[in-house]
This record gives sequence, C-alpha cells and structure tokens, in this order.
Amino acid sequence: MSLLYEKVFRPLLFKLEAERAHRIAAFSMRILGKATPLRRLAAIYCHTESCPVRLFGLDFPNPVGLAAGMDKNGEFIQSALALGFGHVEVGTITPQRQLGNSRPRLFRYPPVGGIVNRMGFNNDGAEIVADRIKRNYPREKRTAPLGINIGKAKTTDIEQATEDYITSFNILADHADYIAINISSPNTRSLRTLQKPDRLEPLLAAINQARKEFSAKMGRQRVPVLLKISPDESFRALDIVLELALLYKMDGIIATNSTVSRAEPNSVGCTEPGGLSGLPLRKRSTEVVRYLAKASGGLIPIIGVGGIYDAVTAGEKLDAGASLIQLYSGFVYKGPLLVKNLARSMVHR
Ligand SMILES: Cc1cc2nc3c(=O)[nH]c(=O)nc-3n(C[C@H](O)[C@H](O)[C@H](O)COP(=O)(O)O)c2cc1C
Repeated sequence: MSLLYEKVFRPLLFKLEAERAHRIAAFSMRILGKATPLRRLAAIYCHTESCPVRLFGLDFPNPVGLAAGMDKNGEFIQSALALGFGHVEVGTITPQRQLGNSRPRLFRYPPVGGIVNRMGFNNDGAEIVADRIKRNYPREKRTAPLGINIGKAKTTDIEQATEDYITSFNILADHADYIAINISSPNTRSLRTLQKPDRLEPLLAAINQARKEFSAKMGRQRVPVLLKISPDESFRALDIVLELALLYKMDGIIATNSTVSRAEPNSVGCTEPGGLSGLPLRKRSTEVVRYLAKASGGLIPIIGVGGIYDAVTAGEKLDAGASLIQLYSGFVYKGPLLVKNLARSMVHR
C-alpha cells in the first residue's frame, strides 16, 4: 500500500500546485471523517500494536503524532486518529479568523524531500474551531489526546502578543488535552522574538495565571502547556528558553518548527522564502532535541519533530531523548501508511 501511494497517488498529487494538492488531501480526510463505516475500516486496517506513552497526565496510544499545520482548523481529527496517529495537534489558531499570506505559499522539493511554507496562520479563528472540536471530537469520546496550537494574529503588535495567546487560551483550553504555544513560526513577523527572555518571561507568567484561573473556574486539573520552539536558535538561547520553561513549569517542549536556514547541503535548492521542513530539517531538529534532553537532565519531556520519514528517522529522535514524535512532511512524501508503520516500529524499541 505504501508503494501504491509512492508510485500512483503521490505522482498525481505532485503534478498539482502544492496547496491544491493539500486541499484535495484535506478534503479526502474530511470525507473519511464523515463516512463513519469507511473510517472504522481504516481504523481497523491501520490499528497496530504499539507502545503506549503516559506523559503530563495524558495517555498516548502510541508515540506518533500529527504535527500542527496540517489540520489547522480541527476538521479531520478523527480521520487522522483512524490512520493510526497517537495524538493530533491542530492549529495554529489565532483569536480571530485570518486568511494568511497570498498564494503561492507552499512549495515542494522532491529531490531533497523538503517543503517550504509561508502560509501565515490561515485559520478559522478560536471560537469557530472550539465549536467544531466540541461537536466532532468531544472530550467524553476521546480515544487519543488532542493538542491545540495557538499563536499571534498577523495584525497584532508584538508588544500585545500576550493578549492574543490569553484570548485563544481562554476560548480553547476547555477543548484541549494540551495547549501548544507557538513562538517559532517564521511566517508571522516578529513572532520568534517571543523566544527572547524579556518577551518570553511575561508571556509564560501570563499563561500560567490564565491556566490557574481556568482550572479554578472549570474545576479541571491544570491544562498541560507546551512550548513550540525554532531550530534556528543558538544553544545559548535554548538554555534560556529551557530555564524559563522549567521556572514556569511548562509541561513539555516541541522541537522543532520549520527552519529559515538553508545551510544544510540538501537545502540549497529550496530557494523560496519561508519555513523549510522535511528531510533538510532532520539533522538540526534532532540536534536541538538532543541538546534540550541533555541540558534539562530529563526534567521536561521533549516532543521531537522534523524530517521524520521512516523508522530510522523516528528512532533517531527517540534516541536523542524525545518522548513523543510528530510529523507533517513525511505524511506528504510517504503517504498515510507511514503512521502505522512507524507506530509498529516502536514496539520493538
Ligand atoms: C505547510 C505547513 C504548515 C505548517 N503550519 C504550522 C503551523 O500552523 N503551526 C506550527 O506550529 N507548525 C506548523 N508547521 C510546522 C510543522 O508542525 C513541523 O514543526 C515542521 O514541518 C517540521 O516537521 P516535518 O519535517 O515532519 O514537516 C507547518 C509545516 C508545514 C509543512
């Protein structure tokens, strides 16, 4: 079946403009979500014995998750889970709906297995997504954790960014098993400056206050909050992010988002501006995972993301110290059966 995707479906999809192909894939996933018998069949076919993980109070049926950006609006969570993902992270979501950057904004580089995107947080906005999740994947029917990734709106001044995060947190926290704070997308101006201590510290303090108030109001346990970071920071800068993450009791770090660097030999042809993901990101994201795991002495769980295409690249992230992994580009290049194959490969680790 994997071969069928690589020999038949992928060449067809890759003939189309990249965002068009993405829309067709997203449409198929939505159909799968609505066609319950078909989804059940897919779930039976893709179900595999794997190794469950318990992390920040949540039970993950396997360590392989869908990274943010593919299901930006929470439209096909159930289909992704049916394909074997052990968790899904939706988003990035901003307080209000926004269209994102103008097209073209998505580019594939098959010779090197890379993708460049400068989507710019196109999404339906927090209220609409919250309502959709409530209807389609209610808390009481969950079979695997749902992460919700939140970010700053394009038009919000960076000085006011914290307000955007708090607004989205307050709307979405009740529907999330964990919240991911995206401070690392390269396609929203100044967003990455939120990784600097003078901006990160007040942001984390405000998030912590919001989650305290939320727990008190809703009578729920504290919502796990994870930070999603960039691969383009120096180790020195990562030390500071780590120190603050520990100080403010963040529950995990997602490493990493896409890169603006084209320094890797296999990324030189990826000339469009934007965030590069896939195989050209693999080495650097693994380095960041390894560094954080070591520097934190295992005090904070790391979710490894970047260039996971097969059991070897998945194993690399786990060996570097990741407790869970996520992928996006690998799904585009290798097809839906990659998920099952990866989950199965974890059993024998
Ligand atoms: C088209 C596209 C859109 C993305 N959108 C988001 C996003 O909205 N928020 C986010 O945190 N990461 C986003 N990402 C980054 C991925 O979640 C992931 O961190 C990155 O692609 C590296 O993983 P990969 O090599 O498996 O793709 C996006 C990636 C791609 C390819």
